[in-house]
Amino acid sequence: MRDLRNKVLLASGFHAPVPGEIEVLKDSLIVLDGEGIIQSVLRPGDEAYGLQKSDAERQERLCRLPAEHSLLPGFVDCHVHAPQYPQLGTALDVPLETWLHTYTFPLEARYTDLAFARRAYRLLVEDLLANGTTTALYFATIHQDATRLLVDICLEKGQRALIGKVAMDNPDECPDYYRDASPDAAIKGTKALIDYVRAHPDNTAGTVLPVVTPRFIPACTDATLQGLGELATDCGCHVQTHCSESDWEHGYVLSRHGMTDTMSLDRFGLLTRRSMLAHSNLLTPDDMEQIKVRQAAVAHCPLSNAYFAGAVFPLRAALEKGLHVGLGSDISGGPSASLLENMRAAILVSRMLESGVDGNLPPHLRASGAKARIDFRHAFHVATAGGGKALDLPVGQFTPGYRFDAITIDPQANGGTLRLFDGDEGSEAALQKIIFTASRANIAAVYVDGRKVA
Ligand code: GUN
Ligand code: FE
Repeated sequence: MRDLRNKVLLASGFHAPVPGEIEVLKDSLIVLDGEGIIQSVLRPGDEAYGLQKSDAERQERLCRLPAEHSLLPGFVDCHVHAPQYPQLGTALDVPLETWLHTYTFPLEARYTDLAFARRAYRLLVEDLLANGTTTALYFATIHQDATRLLVDICLEKGQRALIGKVAMDNPDECPDYYRDASPDAAIKGTKALIDYVRAHPDNTAGTVLPVVTPRFIPACTDATLQGLGELATDCGCHVQTHCSESDWEHGYVLSRHGMTDTMSLDRFGLLTRRSMLAHSNLLTPDDMEQIKVRQAAVAHCPLSNAYFAGAVFPLRAALEKGLHVGLGSDISGGPSASLLENMRAAILVSRMLESGVDGNLPPHLRASGAKARIDFRHAFHVATAGGGKALDLPVGQFTPGYRFDAITIDPQANGGTLRLFDGDEGSEAALQKIIFTASRANIAAVYVDGRKVA
């Protein structure tokens, strides 16, 4: 099943369009058009099911997923630093500000070397696809050429991607060897990348989108934040940045701007329906309200936050408030390229947030007091449909009008870690086991726009 465009797929699986709820798809027919857009989803009880199935069979358009495999929406990673892949799994033992200056800025500065960039970006995109990530929101580096290369590689490999040239020009917070020379360089460089993406001859379907990417407020001058806000409005582009991530960063913005990251981003026009705020651990109730009013989104990065943030994002509260939230690996602040692992981390940290962690305290003093726990249903939602909605893209669920971005799970794969037993198949228990125990080897096939890409 290399290409499912114009085909009818007979499959069983799961999706989660609503936070906290799983929809089980049993022997469903998913009809794709020539562009990989889902035209209809029919269940065995539906009136048109029998005719659709026999027509598809007669026209040799019917493709059957093996009965023991499960179909899931592809994962949507809402926060990835593509150039940091070479240091994945290292340097997690120092504070954020030390990590940036000692390891991360020197590594990102190396992307003037296009051979180095090509090798790192190819490996990353291949590995993310193999891990089931069909959409990724990428920070690149400040460099024009290497960032264009990342665009080319995503188009070549078929990954849906949103890509930003990083803007960072504040000489007080960025090193001489790695920063935009001026606000003009940051803003014009961002515009040049937007134009490159939009005019790319291989991107007529818009599989890759450009993103206005102020790294975070400390790294940018006010002139750059102002100019990028105007550019985002003019171009109607996505925006991504880091927001209230750690005490140091949050405190820096409070002392420089006299307000929180959220409020400051808003006055620069950087808080829009297409904005993705990574981390956002230290939001005030007013910040949350403003994010909701603007319909902006948060990328929850549970693994990274354990190392750098010193706080847990209150995912359950944010979802109950109706905020758009997606899941982010934050490669390489988080040491995993797998959204399955990040789903597990999101569940784990939510439990610790609810129960508290200090065993020397009695339970009633140890607990945070609020119901903070999420389960596999919420985790699966934010990794798929929630991420798609957060990005304002028609991905992450099997619904007519959405793109067929999907993965298939093989419980019997060689080297796999998923074990299903009698009675599991097709039940929510099977999905729960997939989320807690499956790994890369269990991901049998990966589709973007109906085309097999891994
Ligand atoms: N804040 C500014 N830059 C970064 C980055 O690269 N990673 C994380 N986690 N936080 C940041
Ligand atoms: Fe980050």
